[in-house]
Amino acid sequence: MSTTVTNAQDSAYQVESLIAEDIDAYLETHRRKSLLRFITCGSVDDGKSTLIGRLLYDSKMIFEDQLAALEADSKRVGTQGKEIDFALLVDGLAAEREQGITIDVAYRFFSTEKRKFIVADTPGHEQYTRNMVTGASTADLAVILIDARKGVLTQTRRHSYLAHLLGIRNLVLAVNKMDLIGYEQPRYDSIVADYRAFAQSIGIESFVAMPISGFKGDNITANSANMPWYEGPALLEHLETVVVDSEADRARSFRMPVQWVNRPNLDFRGFSGLIASGVVKPGDAIRVLPSGKTSTVDKIVTMDGDLDEAGAGQSVTLTLKDEVDCSRGDVIAIASAPPEAADQFEATIVWMADEEMLPGRAFWLKLGTQTVSATVQAPKYQVNVNTMEHLAAKTLDLNAIGVANFSTDRPLVFEAYGDNRQLGGFILIDRFSNATVAAGIIHFALRRAQNVHWQATEVTREARVALMNQKPAVLWFTGLSGAGKSTIANIVEKKLARMNRHTFLLDGDNVRHGLNRDLGFTEADRVENIRRVGEVAKLMTDAGLIVITAFISPFRAERDMVRAMITEGEFIEVHIDTPLADAEARDVKGLYAKARAGTLANFTGIDSPYEAPEDPEIRIDTTGMTPDEAADLIIAKLIP
Ligand code: ADX
Repeated sequence: MSTTVTNAQDSAYQVESLIAEDIDAYLETHRRKSLLRFITCGSVDDGKSTLIGRLLYDSKMIFEDQLAALEADSKRVGTQGKEIDFALLVDGLAAEREQGITIDVAYRFFSTEKRKFIVADTPGHEQYTRNMVTGASTADLAVILIDARKGVLTQTRRHSYLAHLLGIRNLVLAVNKMDLIGYEQPRYDSIVADYRAFAQSIGIESFVAMPISGFKGDNITANSANMPWYEGPALLEHLETVVVDSEADRARSFRMPVQWVNRPNLDFRGFSGLIASGVVKPGDAIRVLPSGKTSTVDKIVTMDGDLDEAGAGQSVTLTLKDEVDCSRGDVIAIASAPPEAADQFEATIVWMADEEMLPGRAFWLKLGTQTVSATVQAPKYQVNVNTMEHLAAKTLDLNAIGVANFSTDRPLVFEAYGDNRQLGGFILIDRFSNATVAAGIIHFALRRAQNVHWQATEVTREARVALMNQKPAVLWFTGLSGAGKSTIANIVEKKLARMNRHTFLLDGDNVRHGLNRDLGFTEADRVENIRRVGEVAKLMTDAGLIVITAFISPFRAERDMVRAMITEGEFIEVHIDTPLADAEARDVKGLYAKARAGTLANFTGIDSPYEAPEDPEIRIDTTGMTPDEAADLIIAKLIP
């Protein structure tokens, strides 16, 4: 295999002699180097592994861990010059990545004389979009690889769109495998023109194009003699010198999400965090969000002493002149231009879970240091990433990208992602499995969130409850169809009425005739069914009633959401625990027979799941007692 003799190889020798001479000076130079995080993307066979292998190979792989080893034992300088076989290296990288794909992203570290690099190596297949998104979310630059023989492909467009969406402003279009098309300029020019037309259509303002061969090493570390017609920089040269956006981040308004409050003693109270944007100085007027309280910066404290100024990318502790309330998750911002705080916003999300997105379900939303409970509404549309068309969608499947509105249980401090990647990007987490199910970027707050305020009514909940002369509650029955929920709920309501209690029974079959007649039995519809019933039950408890609900309510997530909505202590989950075999044997409505015969789809327990409560307030084993005994047990728990 022929490789071009390169500057980097020359400089590697200089590096080795420098190390041999003065290890401390070498390590110091290395420490001061800036870091570039980038991602390589493109289709499966575009040559990503070969390119990354080439970069590691030509830069002599001065690894972070090798440096650590050097630091530990300054005599062991021999590791730097270790020769590795290029082909073996590429095979090894590819194999390692294929093993890692289901888990995450492979990050490779390398370093040249001028810069340190972290490259996110993600697989090219469409089913690994989530890995690509993870890698891209922290990258400053993306190298979009194209096979010169194939030109711009679906995956090229998909990855370019995602990279742009995730705020990567530095794009390199690397037209690879030039050796296989005889290093010819016309073909290269036409690919670049194709790409330019596409890039403009999705709002990419600029990119740097270059013809390369990762395999042969053309235009990787130095300009190749095989393509004298190309006058731009070699890839590594560009990566070493490209200006990353930290200057732009400093020019924006000051924001620091508070990571923790430092209070070692009564005299010191500092707020620590990583500055997301802007610059801060002692004496600056600041505002704490979401409360809106104002104060003035007193000191900027760091491990190396107090600072006169700190900016984006620095971790600091701020002390303030006043005793203002401020805790983890709050954002300290310049007082004159604070970010928004709202509880409803529109965002683009990439769905990353195997199960489809269920509109109406509540998730944990993490944005910077804030964690709130958030509900996603039905998508407004899904983006076809191949054609950029907007498609109608009821849900989002794995790797789908769509736009939807979100509402949170309390105000979230954020900025549009386009203005601030740290304060505009979030992830959604499943409340039970703790898995990350989506990544999102915020567009804007919904004005209606700011303009619709809760009306304080003059007859308060307390007043209504006092008039009713009872403690409101929700008896939330859950269980399979035919478990006996409606039967027992009816007896409970009759007995309570006899005791002069004010009640209301919400029953699945009845509510589905009116309020929820637009809903069927898909998972998404069941989620919405329960969300609405939860809201109604909540209003009824505000009216002072004892509400009894009889719905299958098969999902823990929604029962949990209703629990969180209702006043603490007023939600009583009653699991009517009848084994499937018994419910099916009774089959009062003949529905199990239909489901088994295949004429009724999505039937709970047959082809639609039921998630039993893990720790209900009351569990009724209907095989061991009569409905009347069950009702007495429930009432005894409600009114001790
Ligand atoms: S839930 O899952 O959304 O909570 P809900 O309690 O409102 O269900 O409605 C369940 C009732 O609808 C059942 O008792 C049954 O009479 C009827 N039903 C009709 N089709 C189905 C189905 N596919 N799965 C479950 N119940 C069904």
